[in-house]
Amino acid sequence: MAIVPVALGARSYNIIVEQGGLDRAGDILAPYARKGRLVVVTDAHVAAAQLPRLDASLRRANVTLEPIILPPGEQTKSWQHLEQLLDALLALEIERGDHVVALGGGVIGDLVGFAASILKRGCHFIQVPTTLLAQVDSSVGGKTAINTAAGKNLIGSFYQPALVLIDPSTLDSLPPRETRAGYAEIVKYGLIDDPDFFGWCEANAQALLAGDPDARTIAIERSVRAKAAIVADDERETSGRRALLNLGHTFGHALEADTGFCDTLLHGEGVAAGMALAFRYSARLGLCPQSDADRVTAHLRAVGLPHDLATAHVTANGVALVGHMLHDKKMAAGTLPFLLARGIGQTFLSKDVVLDDVAKFLDADRA
Ligand code: NAD
Ligand code: GLY
Repeated sequence: MAIVPVALGARSYNIIVEQGGLDRAGDILAPYARKGRLVVVTDAHVAAAQLPRLDASLRRANVTLEPIILPPGEQTKSWQHLEQLLDALLALEIERGDHVVALGGGVIGDLVGFAASILKRGCHFIQVPTTLLAQVDSSVGGKTAINTAAGKNLIGSFYQPALVLIDPSTLDSLPPRETRAGYAEIVKYGLIDDPDFFGWCEANAQALLAGDPDARTIAIERSVRAKAAIVADDERETSGRRALLNLGHTFGHALEADTGFCDTLLHGEGVAAGMALAFRYSARLGLCPQSDADRVTAHLRAVGLPHDLATAHVTANGVALVGHMLHDKKMAAGTLPFLLARGIGQTFLSKDVVLDDVAKFLDADRA
C-alpha cells in the first residue's frame, strides 16, 4: 500500500493506492460513516461490476451502504442528473459534515464532486475511482464539473475530496479500450517532465495494458505522486504549473469536438492524438528534436492509441479544427495558451502560437 499526501493546508488529503483496497474499504471508510451509513454514488456499469465488493466490505465494518445509481456515460455530467443527484442526497438527509462516496470513472467523480461542493454550501466527498483515467488523473486535484449546451466542463468548481482510495484491481472489469484511453494520461506525466518515466512506459506498457498488477500499481502511484506535487504547487491553475497537465488537450479538445464528444473518440484517445500532434508541431517549429516527436508517435501507435487525425477518425480540415480551439475555455484575451515541448519531459506553456500556422500544420500532418 502507498499513501500519497496532497499538501494543501487545511484542504490536504491522502491518496491511498492499494491492490485489493476496495475489499478493505470498510476499515478505511468506516471513520467517515456518520451513524454507520455511507451514501455511495455510482453508475450502472460500476454498480454491476464493483459495488458488491464495496458493499460486502462495508458490511464487514458494520457500515450500511446507501446506493445512488446513475446512468453511465458522459451525458450524466448534466444539469438534469446534477439536479436528480442533489434531490436524492437531500432526500437521504445528507448534512454538511457527511461524506458522500463517488465510486466510478471521471464522469461520476466530476459530477459528485460538483454536487458536494454546492450541497448545503458544501459537504465532504471521497473519490473511489474505477477507471484508469480517474485513478491517475481526474480523482486527484479537485476539478469538478458538468457539461452544458455551450460545451464540456464549463460549469464547475475547485473542490478537493477528503480522501482518494485507489484499488487497481477494480480495473479488471474495465473494457480494454477504456484502459488504453486512461493509459494516455499516464504517458502524459512522462512527457511533461519525467523522461525516465516515459522510458518506463515504453518498457512496461504492454504488461500494464495486459493487466499486470505490479505494472498497474507502479504506474498509478507514480502518476498520482506527479499530480499531487503539481496540484500542491498550483491548486487553481494560476501559476501555469498545473496548466502543464493540459498537454495534448488543446489539440485533443478540437478532435473531440469534431467527432462529437462521443464513443468515436474517448477523452483519453483525444489526449493521445493531441500529445502526438503537440510534439510533431513542436518539431515543426524547430523547438523539439524530430526524433523525440517520432518516439512519442511510435509509442502511442505501438499501444494502439490514436496518434494522428486519421487514427482519431477526424475528417475536418485545419481551419475547422482551429475553429473548435477558439471555443476552448483556456482562451484568454484572444490568445490560446498552447502546451509545446523542447523534448520528451520538457513541456512548456507557449502564448506565441499562431493559430493560422496550426491550421496549416494540421493539413500538412494529415497529408
Ligand atoms: P467514465 O466515467 O464515463 O467511465 C468510462 C466507462 O467505463 C463508463 O461506461 C463507466 O460506466 C465504465 N466503468 C468505469 N469503471 C468501470 C469498471 N471498473 N468496470 C467496468 N466498467 C467501468 O469515463 P472516464 O474516462 O473515467 O472519465 C471521463 C470524464 O472525466 C470526462 O467527463 C472528463 O471531462 C473527466 N475528466 C476530469 C478530469 C478532472 O481533473 N476532474 C480530468 C480528466 C478527465
Ligand atoms: N486534468 C487536468 C487537471 O487536473 O488540471
